[in-house]
Amino acid sequence: MTAGPLVVLVGPMGSGKSTVGALLAERLGAPYRDTDADIVAAEGREISDIFVEDGEEHFRALERAAVATAVADHEGVLALGGGAILDEGTRGLLAGLPVAYLSMDVEEAVRRVGLNTARPLLAVNPRRQWRELMDARRHLYTEVARVVVTTDDRTPEEVADAVLSAL
Ligand code: S3P
Repeated sequence: MTAGPLVVLVGPMGSGKSTVGALLAERLGAPYRDTDADIVAAEGREISDIFVEDGEEHFRALERAAVATAVADHEGVLALGGGAILDEGTRGLLAGLPVAYLSMDVEEAVRRVGLNTARPLLAVNPRRQWRELMDARRHLYTEVARVVVTTDDRTPEEVADAVLSAL
């Protein structure tokens, strides 16, 4: 068997990557890892602070390094931050991996995440920002994904089932 992640989850914030990732890890009897958590641990500060103090570009570079490390050593379920796919280098690291895109439509995103100030990219007008964010990202999620699983009308358990049967 080749080393590397068993499943990589991508998708917008609120699509359920961590909840579904933990369920998948349990079902596969494999560890769960999350690059956002890796970055927070390595930097000793929150992601929102990294955005404010050093900017998004710097965060994306940290994220690219975290994804490179994780895809090289993690033999389990790996969840990436919602914007990881924006970086071309990060997308390149995902080539050939079992990547599942957890998709969610804009109205569902507004319902689930809305105006959550802990998420640095959604400060004002959540519906418009969500629309713009998804218009900019949808094709990139699709580009890296081996499978696309819609989450809108599904429980996390149903999403996990769908990922397992699709991959
Ligand atoms: C981001 C999503 C976040 C986190 C950062 C930026 C984004 O991850 O990486 O706040 O650009 O969509 P989650 O998708 O895990 O919330």
